[in-house]
Amino acid sequence: MTDLGAGIGIRYLLETRYDRDDLGGQPREHFSRAPAFKEYPPDTRRVKLPAVAEQFKADFWALVKERRSLRDYLDRPLSLVELAGLLWATQGVTLTYRNFAFRAVPSAGALYPVETYVAVHQVTGLDPGIWHFQVREFGLELVNPGDWRRELVAAGLNQSFLGTAAVVFIWSGILRRSLWKYRQRAIRYLFLDAGQICQNLHLAATALELGCCPVGAFFDGEVERLLQIDGQEEVALYLAAVGRVG
Ligand SMILES: Cc1cc2nc3c(=O)[nH]c(=O)nc-3n(C[C@H](O)[C@H](O)[C@H](O)COP(=O)(O)O)c2cc1C
Repeated sequence: MTDLGAGIGIRYLLETRYDRDDLGGQPREHFSRAPAFKEYPPDTRRVKLPAVAEQFKADFWALVKERRSLRDYLDRPLSLVELAGLLWATQGVTLTYRNFAFRAVPSAGALYPVETYVAVHQVTGLDPGIWHFQVREFGLELVNPGDWRRELVAAGLNQSFLGTAAVVFIWSGILRRSLWKYRQRAIRYLFLDAGQICQNLHLAATALELGCCPVGAFFDGEVERLLQIDGQEEVALYLAAVGRVG
């Protein structure tokens, strides 16, 4: 017996354990399946991202050693090539096989429930706003144009580096993409997927000599409003600021 109590988090862990005689989720629930890729209307503004630059090279072991969460950013933009490299490292397609588009980061059941958005503050050649990463086309779709720095800082519990960052990555989860397969246990995998994605971003930012800081402290509803997602079928999961450092 422990004194951890029976709060919702503890109950979640206990009720979603796999045991030999019970793979969780009793009574068995059935969920419809969400499409593998998010589609925006055809008239959405789109930008094609440049190919990942040949000159992006780094020593993996040095990157692991050097990676730190950095929060003091210079007032200087990122290039589109740098942003493309960061996006590719997080969710770029690295292998196409039959109907699967395998990505730079693993995903439970190759279901890829995590969507990537970037709040663009300062990227050369890209208007400020919330852009959605279109995985298949390796492009960006403008979902909420404008300068959202003030709102993002407020949504992030007043963490000011969310406003001085050149871009803020924002990850959401589309629950039905994995609930149909893993039922309630899917939520564990959703956060594990997001963690792996953020770590690739962090290492890629380190390789490009950029600063990066993950952010788990935010008002969910405020972030979801910026992304224009409903907070039920698709929920905010995790943020990471990226900017130039001295
Ligand atoms: C899930 C998660 C949430 C985090 N949330 C925040 C945050 O809201 N604000 C912040 O400044 N740092 C945040 N961090 C960064 C941690 O503070 C940082 O990783 C930790 O201090 C260790 O430092 P290092 O990353 O430089 O090794 C978060 C890190 C993780 C993994």
